[in-house]
Amino acid sequence: VDISVKATGGNATSPHQYGFLHEDINNSGDGGLYAELIRNRAFQSSSIFNSTLEGWTPVNGAALSLKDLDEPLSKALKTSMNVAVGTSSSKRNGSGQVGFSNDGYWGMDVKIKPYTGSFWVKGEYEGSFTASLRSNLTGEVFGSTEIAAKTSGSEWVEHEFKLTPTKDAPNSNNTFSLTFDAAGVKDGSLDFNLISLFPPTYKGRKNGLRIDLAEAIEGFHPTLLRIPGGNMLEGNNSNAWWDWKNTLGPLKDRPGFSGVWGYQQSNGLGLMEYLWLAEDMDLEIVLGVYNGLSLNGDIVPKDQLRPFVDDALAQIEFVSGDAATTKWGAVRAELGHPAPFKLQYVEVGNEDWLAGGDEGWATFKEYRFPMFLEAINEKYPHITVISSGSVFDGYEIPEPGAGDYHIYGTPDSLVEQFDLFDNVTIPHIIGEAAAVHPNGGLGWDAGLLEYPWWSGTIGEAVSMIGYERNADRIIGAAYAPIVRSLDRWQWAAVMIQFAADPAKTTLSTSWYLWELFAGHLMTHTLPATSAFNPLYYVTGKNEDKGTYLFKGAVFNATTDKVPVSLTFEGLRPGTEAELTILTGPEDPYGFNDPFTGVNVVKTVREKVVSDQEGKFAFSMPDLSIAVLETKAS
Ligand code: AHR
Repeated sequence: VDISVKATGGNATSPHQYGFLHEDINNSGDGGLYAELIRNRAFQSSSIFNSTLEGWTPVNGAALSLKDLDEPLSKALKTSMNVAVGTSSSKRNGSGQVGFSNDGYWGMDVKIKPYTGSFWVKGEYEGSFTASLRSNLTGEVFGSTEIAAKTSGSEWVEHEFKLTPTKDAPNSNNTFSLTFDAAGVKDGSLDFNLISLFPPTYKGRKNGLRIDLAEAIEGFHPTLLRIPGGNMLEGNNSNAWWDWKNTLGPLKDRPGFSGVWGYQQSNGLGLMEYLWLAEDMDLEIVLGVYNGLSLNGDIVPKDQLRPFVDDALAQIEFVSGDAATTKWGAVRAELGHPAPFKLQYVEVGNEDWLAGGDEGWATFKEYRFPMFLEAINEKYPHITVISSGSVFDGYEIPEPGAGDYHIYGTPDSLVEQFDLFDNVTIPHIIGEAAAVHPNGGLGWDAGLLEYPWWSGTIGEAVSMIGYERNADRIIGAAYAPIVRSLDRWQWAAVMIQFAADPAKTTLSTSWYLWELFAGHLMTHTLPATSAFNPLYYVTGKNEDKGTYLFKGAVFNATTDKVPVSLTFEGLRPGTEAELTILTGPEDPYGFNDPFTGVNVVKTVREKVVSDQEGKFAFSMPDLSIAVLETKAS
């Protein structure tokens, strides 16, 4: 394939081409990216899930029960755990350490590093508490610390502690326990709530993120973050959407959330935590606001929608309002961030074309999107307001709005969509994208493939190239979902797999693609002369770096190797470039396996120099991906 790239023409490209959606699915938040180690730390409940003692085990004969005390820890955390100091008379008489343990989210990673913990107690007790991390299998204690009690019978008192194990645990089958001397308990029991333990977090943030997962995400150089869903935003019904206000401030003021993926959630990974994440990784945010449609098809009628519009305006003010002159900007400042966060993109709802059926989509078009669009742009004219559907979902999106296109496809369907956006004039995000089904299979009826696989990744590459060719109108594309707990999940194909043991954290084949493409951003595309298929490509330049770029993918070639000859008009012969080629396993269904650690992606990076005619010559095997970037001139 002879590709001759023009020196002029093409278009400027969005700087946020590659990113991800995060919502708490697959325990990707609680028990995942959110670094809290204690499962069910505050016995939270919701309209769907009752409070439980899940995760908690008595130590040394203590009796654990849930209580809704007359004086709860807070309005948000009404239920607490009562710990009665044993049933045997010897313990009543004051011998023995009693208490409780928690086995975390399917284990806990225990290493020699400083853990930070806290718990709230009510009840009279003289003595100290012992917090320890130990093996669930052998009982071996890897680290413990004493915390002097400062309890009271009349109020809740917080206790904080630091705990640094003296030994690394050999595996993640470990528990946290908190014990105290039964003899020191005055009235036979103590009440506990909000028992929390954090390892060191990403960038050292309080209430922060698990380091290895955050770094794995950061490692693919994302520039776009869509939050907080996905279906999570909509909630199961109109009383159970992801209300950002419930996710702010001290943990004791966060009531928890039923989520939509079959598990009670803590609200620990809240709006502020997402904003810190965006700031720490330098991500452009696409902020989802609830628009009056929930997954069960609840639709807020037009004459009752205004409070939801106002709530969205308040949410935007929280993120980007001035701390001195706006109510919600001041709240954000109190929470530690006086400077407004940058906010350029707001999305109204999620997949309204799907959740509410015909009526949901019709009302979205008729009044819900227009009301949000108008109100948001009236107050924030610089914000691009994004519809939760695209022009391909049958919506002529009113200006100056943008669209959102979601694609979970087969490799073939992704390749077929290579030119989907070539003639679309209205800007879009690709708010969710991934290869999830094999070609020729049963699609959604057969479920998703369990891991991203190589030919699926190539399908994604072709579609990403198509988006990048149109990146004057494609604001960016988000892989979804981004992570999955190998212990509890509902959506298999994700970019990063994990378990409690960081050794299981596995970068999928797609991670390698996204890393390569996101690591070589263009600022402008440049037109090139050659047809597509089986090589699909985009060419351009990065004016900030002074480089020229080619990104390509070969899908279904009839020959072993596709020879490529690439010339950039105006570049002198003898120019040096870095060429990276990714190839996969012989089996196009090969995947990166968290259980064997096998990585099927082969990366070859080499220096190439253009010949006397200015040609870079190389060849690409079938099912391969390549990026060539010249050195800065
Ligand atoms: O990414 C998983 C789900 O797929 C999202 O929550 C939803 O928007 C889509 O249907």
